[in-house]
Amino acid sequence: MKLWGGRFTKSTNELVDEYTASITFDQKLALYDIQGSLAHVEMLRVCQIINNQDAHAIQEGLLKVLEKIKSGEAHLSEEHEDIHMNVEKLLIDEIGSVGGKLHTGRSRNDQVALDMRLYLRDALIRISTLLVNVEKALLNQAKQNIDTILPGYTHLQRAQPVRLAHHLLAYTFMFQRDIERVCDSWKRVNLSPLGAGALAGTTFPIDRNYVAQKLNFDGICPNSLDAVSDRDFVVEFLSNASLISMHLSRLCEELIQWSSAEFNFIELDDAFCTGSSMMPQKKNPDVAELVRGKTGRVYGNLMSLLTTLKGLPLAYNKDMQEDKEGMFDTVETLEGALALFAPMIDTMEVKKENMYEAVVKDYSNATDLADYLVGKDIPFREAHAIVGQIVLSCIQQKKYLLDLTLEQYQEYCPHIEKDIYQVLDPKAVVDARDVDGGPAKNRVLDQMDIAEDLIQTN
Ligand code: ARG
Repeated sequence: MKLWGGRFTKSTNELVDEYTASITFDQKLALYDIQGSLAHVEMLRVCQIINNQDAHAIQEGLLKVLEKIKSGEAHLSEEHEDIHMNVEKLLIDEIGSVGGKLHTGRSRNDQVALDMRLYLRDALIRISTLLVNVEKALLNQAKQNIDTILPGYTHLQRAQPVRLAHHLLAYTFMFQRDIERVCDSWKRVNLSPLGAGALAGTTFPIDRNYVAQKLNFDGICPNSLDAVSDRDFVVEFLSNASLISMHLSRLCEELIQWSSAEFNFIELDDAFCTGSSMMPQKKNPDVAELVRGKTGRVYGNLMSLLTTLKGLPLAYNKDMQEDKEGMFDTVETLEGALALFAPMIDTMEVKKENMYEAVVKDYSNATDLADYLVGKDIPFREAHAIVGQIVLSCIQQKKYLLDLTLEQYQEYCPHIEKDIYQVLDPKAVVDARDVDGGPAKNRVLDQMDIAEDLIQTN
């Protein structure tokens, strides 16, 4: 007999149990479900809704059920649909009919909303800690590469040289915003829905704030209908996770490109690459590729939940059971990626000479030549055209700007003097961009200080 079987005259169709059950996946909530139940029972006792003896029996029974679930001894069945009813059934098996008092003043609707919040709270703490580790790894590499110069790109065409530290710090600031978003979401996750009942609270004189306090919530969800219908906090998490994944994926894309023979800027450690079953020479950046690839499922989980929720009337609807798998999958996908990321960044070898070579054998100092002409009072637009001509002729002669003689320069513009060679030197080019947020050494060191302070205050 089902726990809710009283008003039914028939048993469910054999396919219905399997179709409606969530136990195969929501058993991940077991610990949180029992944690919530322990607090609920304590509140029922304090509010004298159940007596001390029954409350203690239920609490001890719940702890035994938890042990049995953890050890794998407990049998979780589809017949009892979900983790909430499985736990209740196991409790009744353990301590007898007094276990049936656990669900007084509560519904699975407020219970499941509570479990989701408890689960997500822990996940948010783990994920932000992992993000901090990634930030630290990037900062470490930045510190070691303050003087490493490489081309900066726009349109994936070499544009102007930057420092590798500058480039890596750009990602540090992205992940910092991600951490801030995760922390900001905390105040919306950390409210207790318990006591909202099925939708309209309960007739028992419960104390919602007491339970909330016991479970370390900042407060309670103020409206019972909203409390059981709200999955905004899950959507918000999936959205934050999508941004994190997008940032990871963009960095992965660069690591993959940089590892190619065409770039040859870095080598990822063997421990983070895999080989080919056919081609003996291959070393593939599989981890970076998979992190990039798994971004798809994280976005998918966000779209899936938004779509599930969009037409739902108040209050609880069974559709909402679809909130779980995507959330679990996203938490696990993200944790997997972030745990690998910090050591992968820490151990990557930077090929500084190759990066520098890519700057020297290029025209990414052309803007500096134009700026130099502006210094000779030539309007920037004219200077741009003159330098365009110079670059074109260099390309035709297979030369770079630093290869031209002073006479050749003066054919284009008589104002050019021999200090031009100093101006066009790659290191000078980087340091000439001495503006807030720019690539000049002192400016990158400033950014490093800002990043370090932010990381410490996380
Ligand atoms: N397994 C359900 C879910 O995950 C729990 C809530 C069920 N409530 C109900 N009235 N059927 O959403």
